[in-house]
Parts: sequence; structure tokens; C-alpha cells
Amino acid sequence: MNILLTGGTGYIGSHTAVELAMRGYNVILLDNLENSSEKVVDQIAAISGVRCAFVKGDVRDRFLVKGILREHQIDAVIHFAGLKSVSDSVSDPLSYYSTNFVGTVELVAAMSEEKVFRLIFSSSATVYGTPSRLPVDEHHPTNPLNPYGRSKLHVEEFLHDVANASSGWSIVCLRYFNPAGAHESGLIGEKPTSRPNNLLPVISEVASGQRKKLDVYGDDYDTADGTGVRDFIHVMDLAGGHEAALRFANKNSGVTTFNLGTGLGYSVLEMVRSYERASGQSIPIEFAQRRSGDVASCYADTSKAGNLLNWKATRTLEDMCASSWRYTKAQ
Ligand code: NAD
Ligand code: WQD
Repeated sequence: MNILLTGGTGYIGSHTAVELAMRGYNVILLDNLENSSEKVVDQIAAISGVRCAFVKGDVRDRFLVKGILREHQIDAVIHFAGLKSVSDSVSDPLSYYSTNFVGTVELVAAMSEEKVFRLIFSSSATVYGTPSRLPVDEHHPTNPLNPYGRSKLHVEEFLHDVANASSGWSIVCLRYFNPAGAHESGLIGEKPTSRPNNLLPVISEVASGQRKKLDVYGDDYDTADGTGVRDFIHVMDLAGGHEAALRFANKNSGVTTFNLGTGLGYSVLEMVRSYERASGQSIPIEFAQRRSGDVASCYADTSKAGNLLNWKATRTLEDMCASSWRYTKAQ
């Protein structure tokens, strides 16, 4: 099968490219390199032994995307291309709606015109907002708390409208919880081009001496140790979830939404301790004010993905920390 990965040189896209290439899919990468580097194409080849075709370009460029769909006879698209910083989305909503929403509209238009009707979309657990019950299942009400989350929810709604209007579509929305870690080789990982603010990239900067300490946002949450609890999922487990979603999309039509997480919640302090063990480095912390918009706990009910995708995350917190450290050291 020929699979187009938009945002394919990014963090999750590159790990999924490795997983798919190693399973015999023909992978084509499209990325404008806004938050990644073309070197990733070499790293994917070094790990998988397969050199993926790469096109530098913007997912909003309908003419370009149509050409790729035609030239490579694409069977399905996995749509990772997007902007993902919650804080940037508050200060610059225009960019977020343009890339995330308009980008998907243009992609779907190109797919429709070229008669490619299988799409896997990178959504986010952020669409749920503050959980009213735990674990969070796919029927949990959606109430995103920021423009980034709203741009993802609007895309999901748009995709439902598209599939309702035409029966040929097969669309899977994957709501990722907290992706973490790197490929076991340490050759690819999370490499943001601007200063990171997600937990694991910040911890890895502290462990490698690029930052002095980790500010832990809040020590008085209603959790076992007072710090925030999240469902961290190894990025290679997440990559496997996309392959399972592709197989599902081959057999099912309409729109289906899945949580991709482990179903387990770990606190910020548990993550810090695990990273200290994996790296052998000490991670100085300082307790700080709660970060606005953060929730105390969020973890997934993963039974739908288990039942319908026959997929389950297997890697541990240790695996996430060890692989992240291997990647960090190699930089
Ligand atoms: P990433 O920034 O590493 O990858 C996204 C890629 O898209 C980057 O390589 C970037 O250069 C590219 N891109 C951005 N705008 C583009 C455009 N207009 N045209 C073509 N390429 C463009 O991010 P990621 O962590 O790999 O996330 C992938 C997707 O998953 C995103 O849509 C993100 O919103 C979603 N997601 C990520 C997380 C997370 O915590 N990492 C959680 C939930 C959902
Ligand atoms: C995790 C925990 C922080 C940094 C975000 C997006 C979400 C999704 C994943 C894209 C929280 C604490 C963090 C730090 C800290 N992305 N923390 N000090 O907020 O759960 O989710 O990324 O879709 O949409 O909102 O992830 O990694 O930022 O935070 O104490 O320097 O770590 O307060 O409890 P979050 P995160």
C-alpha cells in the first residue's frame, strides 16, 4: 500500500514512517519543515533500510498534494501536519486555524478530487478539556480549553460532515494522549525547533545540562503526590496504533474515533524519578504555580482501540525515559 504521511518528518510522523516502512508499506513524506528537518529522512532510512520519498511542501497547497496523490498512487493518507503548541495557539490563533483547519480542508479537497478516500487524522485528547470522569472514553463530552484544541475538534466535526455527505470515505480520528520517548535506536526523537514546554523534552534538557531545573507546575493537585497525572504513551506504540488504524480503515467506512493511550496515569514526579533512573543524572526540580489550563489528571479508556483495532500499548515509562535519553545523548 502507498501511504502519504503529511508532517512526515515530525516527531510522531517519523516514528510512524519507520513502523510502516518496516512492515512493508510504501511511505511518502510531505512536510514543509516548519518544525522538523530533512535529515530525518536519512535517519528513517538508516533505521528501516528503506528510503522514503520526500516532498518539501505545504499541506495547504492543493495543487501540490493532488500531484503527490496521483504520482505515487496513494491509497491512504495519515495527516500529522499541524501546529501543536497550546500557548502559541492562544497568541496566534490565525496560524493554528490556518494550518490545522484550512490545512485539513485543502487536504480533503485534494483527496476528494483524486478519489483517495482513506484518511487517518492526528487528533488529541485535548479535545476533551477538563475530564468529568476517569478514565476518559470516546463518549466523554468534548470541551477544548484553547484554540489549539478547538482547531482539532473543528477538524473532527468537519470530517464527520464530509463522511456524512458521501458514503465512500473511511476516516479514523486518533486522539493521542501524551506521546513520549523516542525510537529505540536513538536516531529519531522529539526535536522541537523552538524552546519546548512539554514535560519530557524539558526533563531531557535538564538531564543533559541545557536547563538548570524543571519547574513542576503545581504540587497541590488532588493526586497521590500532588503533581499532575497524565497518560504517557511511547511514540513507537503510537506508531503501531497508526498501522492498526490503517488496517481498520481498509475494512470500515464512515468516521471512527479512538483514544490512543496506555490507560495508565503517571505523575510528573514519577516521570522525573523514572528519567533519573534511566539517565543516571539528577533532575533538579522546583515547585511552581499551577500552569493555566492544566488539569489534575487525564488518562484514557483504551478499550475501544483494544477491541476494534486489536492494538495495545506495551512499552513502559522506563522505555520512554531510556529511549528519550539515548536520543538526547546522541544530539
Ligand atoms: P511535530 O511538530 O513534530 O510534527 C508536525 C510536522 O508537521 C512538522 O514536521 C512540521 O514541520 C509539519 N508541518 C507543520 N505545518 C505544516 C504545513 N502547513 N504543511 C506541511 N507540513 C507542516 O508534531 P508531532 O508531535 O509529530 O505531532 C503530529 C500531529 O499530532 C500534530 O497534528 C499534532 O497536533 C498531533 N498531536 C501531537 C501530540 C503531541 O503531544 N506530540 C499530542 C496530540 C496530538
Ligand atoms: C504534562 C504535565 C504539566 C512541563 C499537552 C497538550 C496536549 C497534547 C500533549 C498535543 C502537566 C507538567 C510540564 C514543565 C511541568 N499535545 N509540566 N513542568 O499539558 O498534558 O498536554 O501536550 O495535542 O494537547 O496540552 O502535556 O507535557 O505539557 O504536561 O510540571 O515544564 O507536566 O503541568 O501536569 P499536557 P505537558
